[in-house]
Amino acid sequence: MEKPMPAKGDADMTDSFQPARVTPLEQPTNLLKTGMLMRENPLSILPALLFEKTILTGPYLGRSVHHVSGPAEMKSVLQDNFEDWCKSPLIQRMLRPVLGDAILTAHGENWRRQRMTLQPAFLKRRLDPFAPIMAEAALMAVERLKHPQTPEIMSVMSDATFAVIERVLFSDVEGFDRGEVRRAIEVLLEEIGQMRLSDLAPVPEWMPRMMTRRAVQARKVFRKAVEGQIARRRAAADPGSDLLGLLLTVRDEETGEGLSDTDIRDSVMTFVAAGHETTGIALTWALYLLANQPQAQARLREEAKAVLGDGPATAEHVSQLYFTRQVLEEAMRLYPPAPMVARRAVRATEICGRPVRKGDVALLAFYCLHRHTTLWDNPDSFDPDRWLRDRRPTDRYQFLAFGGGPRACIGMGFAMMEATIMLATLVRELAFSPPADARPVELAMQVTLRPAGGLHLIVKPA
Ligand code: HEM
Repeated sequence: MEKPMPAKGDADMTDSFQPARVTPLEQPTNLLKTGMLMRENPLSILPALLFEKTILTGPYLGRSVHHVSGPAEMKSVLQDNFEDWCKSPLIQRMLRPVLGDAILTAHGENWRRQRMTLQPAFLKRRLDPFAPIMAEAALMAVERLKHPQTPEIMSVMSDATFAVIERVLFSDVEGFDRGEVRRAIEVLLEEIGQMRLSDLAPVPEWMPRMMTRRAVQARKVFRKAVEGQIARRRAAADPGSDLLGLLLTVRDEETGEGLSDTDIRDSVMTFVAAGHETTGIALTWALYLLANQPQAQARLREEAKAVLGDGPATAEHVSQLYFTRQVLEEAMRLYPPAPMVARRAVRATEICGRPVRKGDVALLAFYCLHRHTTLWDNPDSFDPDRWLRDRRPTDRYQFLAFGGGPRACIGMGFAMMEATIMLATLVRELAFSPPADARPVELAMQVTLRPAGGLHLIVKPA
């Protein structure tokens, strides 16, 4: 594969600031220790060698686990042999009680049917009308951050992206208690985002994961509210032009079939779960990087002012915000919101010639791929210009923040439009810098990769 060109010029852009990183495991460790580390921070089990090699195989409970960090190996699992793999039982166990058999957790024909049916809801022309909602949420976040008692950044970003997905899904709120539903969703997200020691025990797959009583109650509240909305819309002549309305009307192009009420209900929860935190985290890391690299921040502000003027960002602006997009891509390279995904082999197969037995696990370490020493120059440094058209990687499997192959993120266009509108608006209005007494930022992974304890920055009007 072609190696990207070396970083050009601007020494200040890369030299002084070293973005936070994970300390990898120098030596392989025993199973018990791996289990403990995994629960604390699954990223910390990744061996240092994975930043140099493309695949490492080790034993795991009588099977093999293949740690993967090379583009060809990623493509083999995600694209070429994708039918030989299913999502890992661990993640299924954690997500299913809340997300049911919706697109993220479904397998085989059930997944294919849902993917084909949902795909048209994520076409650009369907998403563009949501831009004003995104711009409004961005301006609300600006107002919150202007407050002298600056709130912690990650929670503001998470609230902003939650407001977007909620308004995009339900534009009107008749018969719907927004506050109650939001609280229920928070409990459910907490339930699926927290790995417990019992999740690592080799229990039979048919045995359901125990939910906390709070989560069971929250699921009831959430399901009742969404089912009520679906029934109301089905009874009305017009299902509405928001995402819920689209979900009610989309059809599988081949069979002409629509989604069942249960599919729609679980898809709604899936979009909330898969879509809002990931985008909020991408924005948080982008602001962390910009706060520590004033030149890049100034350049982004200049672009935002030139493209947006004084008004709200629109869908047309998004394709002109080149540097904003580069910063987001670079932030997601260094800090992929989903830094690692797992698959299990449903039959004997291979990864680039390495034999795989049925039941083996593949850990696809996007975090290591994105900082691989043979693929990137100065892999740990923040250099948005590596995303310039003539320098960006030519291999699609070198950057997998949104996954790859048939199960790649369905919401990528949505997320990029939202993050671009938000970042440009935030940086046009506000100046971000690290506090003088800032402690080094540490990385924590609980399904998603976030700054441990949130992110504290000094925020002033720009
Ligand atoms: C920066 C934001 C986002 C990131 C980094 C991200 C990342 C990912 C990744 C890596 C996958 C593949 C997981 C795997 O292969 O196991 C995925 C799948 C998925 N994402 Fe996203 N995502 C983002 C935003 C969104 C949004 C906004 C939505 C919906 C509104 C969404 C909905 C989904 C769904 C439904 C899937 C499952 C697709 C399938 O299995 O066919 N994501 N996402």
